[in-house]
Amino acid sequence: MKNFTYQNGTKIIFGKDTELQVGSLLKEYTNKVLFHYGGGSIKKTGLYDKVVRSLREAGIDFVELPGVKPNPRVSLVRKGIEICRKNNIDFILAVGGGSVIDSSKAIAAGVNYNGDVWDLFLGTPIKHNCLKVATILTIPAAGSETSSGTVITNEEGLYKRSTGHPKLRPIFSIMNPELTFTLPKYQTSCGIADMFAHIMERYFTNEANVDLTDRLCEGTMKAIIENALRLNNNPKDYNARAEIMLAGMVAHNGSLGMGRIEDWASHDIEHELSGIYDIAHGAGLSIVFPAWMKFVYKRNINRFAQFANRVFNIDININNLEETALAGITALENFFTEIGLPTRLSHVNIDDSHIEEMANKLVAHREHAGNFIEIRANEASQILKLAL
Ligand code: NZQ
Ligand code: ZN
Repeated sequence: MKNFTYQNGTKIIFGKDTELQVGSLLKEYTNKVLFHYGGGSIKKTGLYDKVVRSLREAGIDFVELPGVKPNPRVSLVRKGIEICRKNNIDFILAVGGGSVIDSSKAIAAGVNYNGDVWDLFLGTPIKHNCLKVATILTIPAAGSETSSGTVITNEEGLYKRSTGHPKLRPIFSIMNPELTFTLPKYQTSCGIADMFAHIMERYFTNEANVDLTDRLCEGTMKAIIENALRLNNNPKDYNARAEIMLAGMVAHNGSLGMGRIEDWASHDIEHELSGIYDIAHGAGLSIVFPAWMKFVYKRNINRFAQFANRVFNIDININNLEETALAGITALENFFTEIGLPTRLSHVNIDDSHIEEMANKLVAHREHAGNFIEIRANEASQILKLAL
């Protein structure tokens, strides 16, 4: 097990009607916020009205910035930075999914930075003070509600890049599973693929002696599968929604990666995909991850056989571990298919015309992606071809 430091200070307020506490929770920190949200789902669901009421009751002034798109854009981040500077705002309330939260974190990182915020996504370290962020989560997926990271797309060149700092972890996140009842099935499933991928990025490590986190990862993946299938039958199952929402947070709060070397190649390759094609991140992952697995499993067949056995209950063929490993990858693909997700680029009408471009962009700002096996342009291109 590797040495590690773990700290995650985000306070979680979980359960029915918890969004009604937002004003009183904010009151501890501020009298004024930037109220940041997406394309309008919160107005349709009535959440917007509840938030406004709670803010007013608590005497919290707010400036609104709607319009965050999935795969959030740096242009809106720049606009948010200007608004915060002009209005002396030092706290951002993000109401929505990973895109809204990430846009909020990017604004929080950019306000006191003396330069263009995009620099922070190209390697300039975050040494300055950041604004505070709090969230009301409406889709379990990205795990941004407790993570230190943010992922933003630059319209110029369609680069999707991430940055992070512990200072960007939300101060608190409100998580009411009932708020996720309105999610279309496809969005629910994309979120499920994303959280599952967050666990696999940690699970597929070459680090030995990580039994506890192996078991935590496997248990969380099993709970996700079970409850995703329950939601397939009944999207209004509160308890299944609650399990999935909790799993999305556990998957990415850092605890499952303790003592491990994490991978993240599939995520980095997916970011090139959603950067260019603007597809949902989770759908990109349900395509890229199985292809990555097929490309790398020989590096550690035991680990892939363990995954097949412990997560998908596939009997280990002691005489042919490769067969067990491959059966695990097929089981994962079948699970994604069962919840309505694509597992090939052709399922989302993407052909091979931009594969080399994506592979080259992957290493435009880094030496290589991944750790389980180092992925450079050549390997990325082979993985994307396996995904066709
Ligand atoms: O914009 P609105 O109208 O709100 O609609 C959203 C959006 O269209 C809709 N939605 C959200 N909650 C809803 C709802 N519709 C009905 N009812 C609700 N309760 O869902 C759509 C998708 O929202 P989005 O925020 O884009 O989804 P998600 O949470 O999956 O976030 C994806 C982004 O997070 C990044 C991804 O790259 C992607 O850009 N990630 C961020 C990470 C992090 N910060 O730690 C890690 C992840 O690996 C990921 O890369
Ligand atoms: Zn993700």
